[in-house]
This record gives sequence, C-alpha cells and structure tokens, in this order.
Amino acid sequence: MGSLAASLPSSLPPFPRPRRIVENNRFPRAFAFGGSDRSSMQPRFQFVSKLLLAALLTAVCMVVLRQSSTGGGSSKADDTKFSRHEDGVTHVLVTGGAGYIGSHAALRLLEEGNRVTIVDNLSRGNIGAIEELQGLFPEPGRLQFIHADLGDSKHVNKIFAKNAIDAVMHFAAVAYVSESMAEPLRYYHNITFNTLTLLEAMKAHKVRKLIYSSTCATYGEPKEMPITEDTPQVPINPYGKAKKMAEDLIKDYARTADLSVMILRYFNVIGSDPKGRLGEAPRPELRKHARISGACFDAAAGITPGLEVRGTDYNTTDGTCIRDYIHVSDLVDAHVKAMVKAKSQQVGIYNVGTGKGSSVKEFVEACKAATGVDINVKYLDRRPGDYAEVYSDPSKIQKELNWVATHTDLKDSLAVAWKWHTLHRNGYNTESGG
Ligand SMILES: NC(=O)c1ccc[n+]([C@@H]2O[C@H](COP(=O)([O-])OP(=O)(O)OC[C@H]3O[C@@H](n4cnc5c(N)ncnc54)[C@H](O)[C@@H]3O)[C@@H](O)[C@H]2O)c1
Repeated sequence: MGSLAASLPSSLPPFPRPRRIVENNRFPRAFAFGGSDRSSMQPRFQFVSKLLLAALLTAVCMVVLRQSSTGGGSSKADDTKFSRHEDGVTHVLVTGGAGYIGSHAALRLLEEGNRVTIVDNLSRGNIGAIEELQGLFPEPGRLQFIHADLGDSKHVNKIFAKNAIDAVMHFAAVAYVSESMAEPLRYYHNITFNTLTLLEAMKAHKVRKLIYSSTCATYGEPKEMPITEDTPQVPINPYGKAKKMAEDLIKDYARTADLSVMILRYFNVIGSDPKGRLGEAPRPELRKHARISGACFDAAAGITPGLEVRGTDYNTTDGTCIRDYIHVSDLVDAHVKAMVKAKSQQVGIYNVGTGKGSSVKEFVEACKAATGVDINVKYLDRRPGDYAEVYSDPSKIQKELNWVATHTDLKDSLAVAWKWHTLHRNGYNTESGG
C-alpha cells in the first residue's frame, strides 16, 4: 500500500520453521509394533496384545491431536473457564492473533483483564508471538491458542460450540495490495468468504459483538482529502474490494440480527509495543510486497541493498506519495474503546488515522534518524495502482469514542520498532542475530 518497494537479494536465507508448542509428538518406543520375539508368541496372546496396543495408540493420538489443536498447555481447569461465561470478564475471540496487529490487540486485552482465545492458521503469523503472550499470561483461563483455518467452517463452529465467546475481533486476513493484484481469488476467499463463515458461526452460537478490521483501501483514490467515513467507497484493487464486500456482508447481516458491530478502517499501521514485548515480523517471502517500515528496516539492517521509492512526480509537496501512519498501540486502543462502546443493533464505522499525512521522503528521513543508518534510496518511476495522497479525518472517532492518536512522532515510533528489530533479527524465531 505505498509507493515503496525494497529490492531483494536473490538468495534470501530460508525462514526458520516456527517453534512448535507441541515439541515431541512421537510415540514412545514401547508402543512400536514389531520386534524379533513376536514370531514366537501364541496367536491369542498376540491378538490381545495387538488390541491393547491399538487402544493405547488411539489414546495417545487423541491426546496429541487435542494438544496440537489447542496449542497445548490447556488443562481441564482452563477448559472450564473458557467454556463458561463469567460475570465481569469478557471472553474475546481474536482471529489472526498471531499476526502483527492481532498480537498487539491480544496483549492489550489481556492486560485489561479480558479472557482471550486466539484463532490463527499461522499462515503468516508467528507462533513466537503466541509464546510471548503465553509467557506473560500463564494463569489458567487467560489465554488459549487454537490453530485453525477460518475457511474450515466445521472447525470454526466447533470452536464456538466449545467456548463461551462474548465478542469477536476479526483481524485474520491476507493483507497486501500488490499480492491481491496477482492473486485476486485468494483475497476474496480469505477475506470475504472467511468473514461469511465467521458470521454464520457467530449467528449459530449467538455471539453478538464484532469488531472488524477494515482498511482505507476500501475508499480507493478519493478526489477530496481528508477521507471521512462518508467518503464514497470505490476500491481499486482486490484487497480493498474484498474488504468492502466483507463490510457489506456484515452490515446486511447486522440489519437482521441483534448484533453490535464496529467497523474500523485503518490507515497505514506502524510501530510496535512500547515495552518491546512484541513487534512486526512478516515472513521473508512477503518482503517483496514491502510495507514501508519493514522495507526501511530491512534496508537499514543490510538485509536488502536499499530502498526503491516508486514515484517522485506526484502532485504532492515533495512529489512522493502521502500516507497517514497510525501507531499500532493507538490502533489497539481504538479497538478496546470500540468494543466497550459497541451498541446493540448498531453498526459504528470509524476511520483510524492521525489526520496528518507524511510523504514517503519524510518517512524515509524519519527512518534514517531512528536507525542511525544512511539508508541507500533509489528513486524510480511510479508503480501502477498507487494513489498520490491518502489521509484521514479522525474527528468522528475522536468525538464518539473519545479516541485520539498519541504516538504521532514518526521518528520516535520507528526508533522503538527498530530496537525490537535489532534484538530479533530473525523475527520471533531467534533472539539477536548478532
Ligand atoms: N498492517 C496494516 O497496515 C493494515 C492496514 C489496514 C488494515 N489492516 C488489516 O488488519 C488486519 C491484520 O493485519 P496485520 O498487518 O496484522 O497482518 P498479519 O499478516 O500480520 O496478520 C494476519 C494474521 O491472520 C492469520 N490468518 C490469515 N488467514 C487466516 C485464516 N484463513 N485462518 C486463520 N488465520 C489466518 C495470519 O496467519 C496472521 O497471523 C487485516 O485484516 C488487515 O487487512 C492492516
């Protein structure tokens, strides 16, 4: 979503496999079939021992499967807490909670005493983020992780049947504009179809609160700035279109159901947890779709040779594109406020941005100052499909949800995120890369 792409070396190191919660799911040797003395057994004894072994294997398999589907660490006491509503405790289902924004949201929800169930298929998220959260909130009944794909309606329904969910924050999605141009069906399936599956499960299990992650990409390239919630939505790429279709599904269903909905349309999200517990760690294979801060950090770290800024002849102050950069902590704050203020049978729609645009050149300068690296920048022609200027009018959310963006200094926000990066050169998979 910007005019910036990082140039990549052709031989990126392979991304290490995520650490798994269930480390050892091999059967103990004692359960293995075979062995030289079996030929001498009596047939009846053989039959009984086979039966016993089969029963034992089935039991072991059930335990292993159960552990891997809950992410392990879930005891009976946990299950009881997750499966019952409790006065004063909101149980929030966070889809995509292993991802960048979802993990930060889960952290904030947990810090505020909510119960959290994260559902993620780990296609793009990080098990390391879940482990970090589990380390911070190990008490029974606080956090559980369920490894599941939202496109699997049977599994999704089972999750709702087993858990007493009070509210859903739906972050899970594929979320790169350029990827959506190359793979449109993937985007409609992952974003629109999966939102439908989720809504059907919510309907079946009478879950009545939804906070939905939408995007300024649903507006396309409006003629007038800043963008208000009434600006016509004319998305120009499959990502924006799929998100708008998901919004429409939600709005149509909400007209017929006792649902409290908040749709938040984010602008460009940057930054990371000010206490350094979480960060943004996209998979290396996604670097070619380059979100601006990741691309700047990769260039500053020498992972890529430099930055390619696409387009210097836009009708803007310095000729580069202008975007509205919102800090992830402010964004998460908007979610918490939205969840509290969501009203029955109403759909609230809010832009979440700072209201101020910064040019790509300004962003790069802030990144250079934050990292202390004189990043090599190459200025190239425009990239097709990019729009010149996008920034929000956040007055509605300020007035109605009493929300304001507080992390508005680009350099400061990037400095915190850079610190996390330098300590996690390989994302969540290792500590400092040295
Ligand atoms: N990052 C931004 O600048 C930005 C801007 C506007 C809107 N958004 C929206 O915010 C949400 C979160 O974005 P992010 O930047 O954290 O992305 P992310 O890729 O870091 O996180 C998305 C998570 O969803 C999971 N996921 C994807 N498909 C899934 C499926 N079928 N089943 C289960 N889990 C699945 C991924 O594994 C990942 O953990 C998305 O809905 C995105 O469209 C992001």
